[in-house]
Amino acid sequence: MIQNKYVVGNWKMNGVGAHLEEVRAIAGGAARYRGVDVALCLPATLIHRAADVVPGFPVGAQDVHFEPHGAHTGCLGAAMLVDAGAVLTIVGHSERRERERSAEVRAKAEAAQAAGLDVIVCVGESLEAHEAGATIETVCRLANKSLPEQVGPTRLTLSYEPVWAIGSGSTPSPKEIGWVAGALRDLVDKRFGGQGAGVRILYGGSVNGSNAAEIFAVPNVDGALVGGASLRAIDFLPIVAAAA
Ligand code: G3P
Repeated sequence: MIQNKYVVGNWKMNGVGAHLEEVRAIAGGAARYRGVDVALCLPATLIHRAADVVPGFPVGAQDVHFEPHGAHTGCLGAAMLVDAGAVLTIVGHSERRERERSAEVRAKAEAAQAAGLDVIVCVGESLEAHEAGATIETVCRLANKSLPEQVGPTRLTLSYEPVWAIGSGSTPSPKEIGWVAGALRDLVDKRFGGQGAGVRILYGGSVNGSNAAEIFAVPNVDGALVGGASLRAIDFLPIVAAAA
């Protein structure tokens, strides 16, 4: 069963060497809290340096190619991320889904798991789907098409990120988050049976120090995937504290 809450920062396309001090402050501050697992998904250019600055603190990537190597200009294979010190990666973030199909997201998740990376598969609905009352249908359809089959539920996390909540300052109500998290828990249990018990379900989309506790109290929510509020320790550590 899932014991600790899982709070992951997604720095997106932010951060240069000077920002490693924030990584150090986040790692040091997070170590003060029990009952919460913390990680940062950084720009690929910072992964290796972060692994040097904060040895043992989980750092990861925000995407991975589904092939190990080859003629894929600008891409990184899973083994390359592991070599750089990554222990996890995000796949299928809505900011990338505009240019990739769910089958590719699944292949990326399987490649990441096969290389030993923990993988966070992101699913979420558009504002149009939300307003049309098609949230659960949309999110479950994406999850069914994106969740790995070859490797299964090992090292797997599912993150519900309503597209309209990302960067907007708005979130669904706790009740709405609970409906989706419950539907995803049922989907994971149905897909993986008892093996799915270790699959964590996160919420992402405008999580901050003020709303985190309420979100973590929602049934079936095992943590958060945090964007903007993860860039600075002063903003991110209150979220970690709320999960502890
Ligand atoms: O992956 C998490 C991210 O999309 C959420 O962004 O800035 O709304 O916390 P933000």
